[in-house]
Amino acid sequence: MSAASWTLCIDFGTAFSKAAAAPLDSWARFDPAWVRPLALAGFEGGNAFLLPSAVFVADEAVLFGAAALERAEAYARHGRMALRSFKTLLSVSDLDRALKTRAPTAIDPHRLFTMRDLIVLYLAFLSAAIGRAQAEDPELAGERFANRRYAAPAWRSGDSAGLHTSIVALFSEAEALVEKAGVRLLAPEGLEIAAVEQLLSEARSAARPLQMGLIFEASAAAAYTSIGLERSAAHMVVVDVGAGTTDIAAMFRSGGRIYELPQARATLKQAGEFIDRVIANLATEASGSQRSLQKQTALWNLLMRQMQDIKESLLYDGRALLRYGTRTLVLKWSDLERDRDFAEFRRNLQHAFDHSLAVACRHAHLEKRSEIQVIAVGGGSGAPFVQDMLRHARVDAKRFKVAARPATPDWAHAEEFSGNLAPVFPQLAIAIGGAIAPDMMLAAGGED
Ligand SMILES: Nc1ncnc2c1ncn2[C@@H]1O[C@H](COP(=O)(O)OP(=O)(O)OP(=O)(O)O)[C@@H](O)[C@H]1O
Ligand SMILES: [Mg+2]
Repeated sequence: MSAASWTLCIDFGTAFSKAAAAPLDSWARFDPAWVRPLALAGFEGGNAFLLPSAVFVADEAVLFGAAALERAEAYARHGRMALRSFKTLLSVSDLDRALKTRAPTAIDPHRLFTMRDLIVLYLAFLSAAIGRAQAEDPELAGERFANRRYAAPAWRSGDSAGLHTSIVALFSEAEALVEKAGVRLLAPEGLEIAAVEQLLSEARSAARPLQMGLIFEASAAAAYTSIGLERSAAHMVVVDVGAGTTDIAAMFRSGGRIYELPQARATLKQAGEFIDRVIANLATEASGSQRSLQKQTALWNLLMRQMQDIKESLLYDGRALLRYGTRTLVLKWSDLERDRDFAEFRRNLQHAFDHSLAVACRHAHLEKRSEIQVIAVGGGSGAPFVQDMLRHARVDAKRFKVAARPATPDWAHAEEFSGNLAPVFPQLAIAIGGAIAPDMMLAAGGED
């Protein structure tokens, strides 16, 4: 085989980008041995399959991914920040205007770049990382993928398909930029500022129309769920707890096709990063309010650096310790539970889940079916409060049976993944599902 008979799916995430490839006939003949999550970040430091969605404009260069985050940390004292969470920009109602906006000075002190420039640069970095992973895989090296897709949430009540043209234009400029800059994009020291403006303008004129499909994130998760697990029910509710959004969708399978029940769809703007902010606020309050601004900033930076550990300890073990100077702050799950913003998130989540489940049950009833599967994917999916919600799904138990499915299949533990895949599998479910889904599941775009 060569890449010419594979489909690539890019999941450009708020916190992490992911990508996976699968042979063209995967939907009809699924074989997990042929699914390729791509090691975009390489097997050094961090997780190999997660490429941080971050750009840092330094004095001399533009840096990407983990290198951008590291440099941003070193410069935090100078009021400089990395551009992160830029995916959420793609969901605003006037996208073209938002893209033309200049990046704030804390992000781009040179005042050189628009948001569009920075997103194109990041997508070029992402595309170069895909090229590197592809080149290292004997099955994929050399040729272009037969099909390319990207996953996006069903933003603004189903208008994502309308944004498709604008987003594909960004990907196509990024492609042209990769052709000019090549592997320089992947260098930890980044691209020199002096070259970047020139590269961007060349890429703008060299961009060629690009064929890319759009698959809704929930459809991709459902495609994976419906094929990647040994047995699956016709009806399922998928909850994707990502960094920027929590997306809920209900799907049903009939023949080889998955249909979405659009009335069940919900997108909450509360997800991983929202929880981070709640935790950071709790910790800052606990540290006392009369501290100087400088000390508060130092604490906030410390919190953000250790947030992943703090969050996991708090969610999974019920408490987290934070050593701060000579003090130790203790945060407890009960503090989080009592927090008004967090409580509101849980209420919204429960409400959206109940609603999706009710829509799925109504449809299942019409189809004379009684089993509904529920599954959570995304980085926050393992959190006990999410899993509890799935396990205690509220339905008419006499008529419906709800089964909560694990997001990680056995094959994710295979030796070839060096222990890197299983821990992050729920985060990769969308890229993998998007790569195996048949064309008919696309929300827009299609074959090359
Ligand atoms: N074990 C864990 N427990 C709780 N949260 C986690 C865990 N691992 C990762 N996260 C959180 O999950 C989020 C990243 O998940 P994911 O990669 O699914 O998001 P994304 O795809 O980048 O975001 P989005 O789908 O909203 O665009 C981060 O907020 C991270 O802190
Ligand atoms: Mg995601």
